[in-house]
Amino acid sequence: MCGIVGYVGPQPALDVVVNGLARLEYRGYDSAGVAVQGGGALHTEKRAGKLANLRQALENHPVEGDGAGIGHTRWATHGAPNDVNAHPHVDNDHRLAVVHNGIIENFAALREELEEAGCKFVSETDTEVAAHLLSTELKRRGDRDLAAAMRAVCRRLEGAFTLVATSVEDPGLVVAARRNSPLVVGRGEGENFLASDVAAFIAHTREAVELGQDQVVELRADSVAVTDYDGAPVDVNEYHVDWDASAAEKDGYEYFMLKEIVEQPRAVADTLLGRVTADGRLALDEMRLTPQQLRTVEKIVIIACGTSYHAGLIAKYAIEHWCRIPCEVEVASEFRYRDPILDQQTLVIAISQSGESMDTLMAVRYAREQRARVLAICNVNGSTIPRESDGVLYTHAGPEVGVAATKTFLTQLAACYLVGLYLAQVRRMKFDDEIDAVIGQLATMPDQVERVLETVEPVRELARSLADARTVLFLGRHVGYPVALEGALKLKELAYMHAEAFAAGELKHGPIALIEEGLPVVVVVPSPKGRGVLHDKIVSNIQEVRARGARTIVIAEEGDESVRPYSDTLIEIPAVPTLLQPIVSTIPMQVFACELALAKGNDVDQPRNLAKSVTVE
Ligand code: AGP
Repeated sequence: MCGIVGYVGPQPALDVVVNGLARLEYRGYDSAGVAVQGGGALHTEKRAGKLANLRQALENHPVEGDGAGIGHTRWATHGAPNDVNAHPHVDNDHRLAVVHNGIIENFAALREELEEAGCKFVSETDTEVAAHLLSTELKRRGDRDLAAAMRAVCRRLEGAFTLVATSVEDPGLVVAARRNSPLVVGRGEGENFLASDVAAFIAHTREAVELGQDQVVELRADSVAVTDYDGAPVDVNEYHVDWDASAAEKDGYEYFMLKEIVEQPRAVADTLLGRVTADGRLALDEMRLTPQQLRTVEKIVIIACGTSYHAGLIAKYAIEHWCRIPCEVEVASEFRYRDPILDQQTLVIAISQSGESMDTLMAVRYAREQRARVLAICNVNGSTIPRESDGVLYTHAGPEVGVAATKTFLTQLAACYLVGLYLAQVRRMKFDDEIDAVIGQLATMPDQVERVLETVEPVRELARSLADARTVLFLGRHVGYPVALEGALKLKELAYMHAEAFAAGELKHGPIALIEEGLPVVVVVPSPKGRGVLHDKIVSNIQEVRARGARTIVIAEEGDESVRPYSDTLIEIPAVPTLLQPIVSTIPMQVFACELALAKGNDVDQPRNLAKSVTVE
């Protein structure tokens, strides 16, 4: 939520900052703004709407800047998304600018105090208090030491924030602070960068520095100094980003989402890469949890949000089946409020592609306070959730820019299967040859995904024909139920349509009343070779809805002729083992939602009201 960029160096700061924002627009696109130093003054420009509006404004009124620069792309929390509430926010002397990601929870009290002291507020944002507080602190220090002023301000703020500031008192300096919101430093040669995500500076450098909780960084062209909020220097963790700028380009596709769907075979292969030793054993190197620790686990709790939660629901079926460990799955935002029962024998698995979802992060912290061990499954290297967890499994899907999760979902599934098999291995719940057999099946999944992608053109046509539908229902059983949930979520977020998913067996307990003539119902059918009884039951469910007028869209294994008579549209997917089927059955859902949204003229990379990384609770 909200993208932040900072730059100090010899390049034109405005260009670096605006181009960086273009890479972060997926984080928020309600408004955008920049502040650049030049000729002893601070130049700012900000506009409601997408970055294109800011670019247009900068073209109409060029900003001259040769010093430090900061920029912001916003996902509104406090105050409507208009020009005034857009960041940066400045102090009353227009000598200092601040951008912010997060929520300052005690802003109302601080605003009252600042107004009493004579500060004039122009916006409705919580961020503006930070600008006035910082200015007050800087003046108290004789206009010297912006970093010390930032530390003093942070000690007074409650909530979650990344703050980045620059002041005309020191043209070659950008200062930033973080608490519970992402911020990463990019180290260049004679220039340095700050951003919410490495994507903003990957075109300039692949050397990054992780910032920890409650730290302040002073960024100059030739130095990066990090301290805690009391000013004590801290050691930082540096890392090399293992993908380059081309991975964050659209590569000829009209939308990132289209590219990311196509990248799925590669992404799944990368998740599985290097996980098996020469003697055929699974080895999860990044895991950091010892086999001994995993052998003592008595219960698993999976916490996640949105699409990642759906990955967790699927993981439960595999983990319980392979490992015989009880496994609960919970929406992260509900988890800590119900007083869950956790102890040292509980393994909490936190699934988050961004590694920054605040709901999941708070659940992780709560679990660790209760002495549970936490394993993170994340895509973004160096993000907060893996840093605060006991162990991590990275999905290595590469950057996902489209707001709708696609390749990160499939790779989360692959990672969950690896975790399940690894647990089965260390706890000796399966024979080695049984584990080998599943690993072998997993290894074929990138090819199976490729095959699905080669055959989805009819799904596109179908989606276009349904662009005027008001509602679409999704049904599934077993692992097909979370896939149905994911299909409905994709349609809601991309096509802004009412879509709902049900466990097919639940239908007769109420939802079947929704069925009316022509209502599209998508059904995910399990393999007839796996759980035969499940298959037969869902075939009955298809008949039930069809008998009541539904238009049935059936996703079934190729060769499953038993469903053909009841399918208005039959979408065939390759035959794979029951537990692994979500890796292939999800893809037609992604394509369906994407194409339907495009047919309605929606922006599938930046759907309304959403942001890629949800860093507020
Ligand atoms: C997926 O399409 C959504 N954009 C959303 O539900 C997402 O999966 C959720 O916000 C969780 O994000 P995370 O995986 O980064 O924690």
